Amino acid sequence: MVTLTIDGREVQAEEGATILEVARDNNIYIPTLCYHEGIAPYGACRLCLVEIVTHGRERLVASCLYPTEEGLVVRTNSERIANHRKVLMELLLARSPGSPVIQDLARRLGVERTPFKLEDESCILCGLCVRACEEVVGVSAISLVNRGVNREVSAPFYETPDTCIGCGSCAYICPVGAIKLEDVGDTRTITMPNPKMPKTEFKLKKCKICGNYWAPEKQLDYIARQSDLPPEAFDICPNCRD
Ligand code: SF4
Ligand code: FES
Repeated sequence: MVTLTIDGREVQAEEGATILEVARDNNIYIPTLCYHEGIAPYGACRLCLVEIVTHGRERLVASCLYPTEEGLVVRTNSERIANHRKVLMELLLARSPGSPVIQDLARRLGVERTPFKLEDESCILCGLCVRACEEVVGVSAISLVNRGVNREVSAPFYETPDTCIGCGSCAYICPVGAIKLEDVGDTRTITMPNPKMPKTEFKLKKCKICGNYWAPEKQLDYIARQSDLPPEAFDICPNCRD
């Protein structure tokens, strides 16, 4: 265990835990957009920046990435941090002015409007969908490509990737709902925020008992291959299995 100070409060932490994890464990609020506890942190949104003093030096670090250490002093809400978050929120508000998640977070951080030119993007380029697809699902169907203003979530040649199994992890994890997932009848449709990418349709499996369509056939085939289960193991939906 190590002892550190966050906003004047002395707290104990497991060695190696990040500042963000320790702050959350102690009910200290740090805003985040690209962090998810199930995925390795990446440091994309920079909203979680905090001020630290270590070995007499003061600097800003991403709390989702920075590991705690003995004697560390952390400030999560100094004027410098507030100004930094304000500019970041103004940029995010300009990028996605119609996003309720961004509007709510901006309000919480005291930002009502943006001086920057308005765009109409739903994706904030946090990279969570890409990391979930790679780390959790293990298929890496999408990636963040290009640099600067051309940065976008995409698949090779803007085509539907063969590797995509239609699981929808990307849509579930997206913090701003930029990826749309719709199940209608026997079809799941996934729409990425990148307008150059086509909508992708997946056939859903019908439960042999209740007749409900419950999961993409491609996803079930993938799980069967990964787990060595026979395809018949997925003939019945979870509700009818109990
Ligand atoms: S689509 Fe959503 S999860 Fe993916 S990078 Fe954009 S905002 Fe993040
Ligand atoms: S939550 Fe740390 S950089 Fe986004």
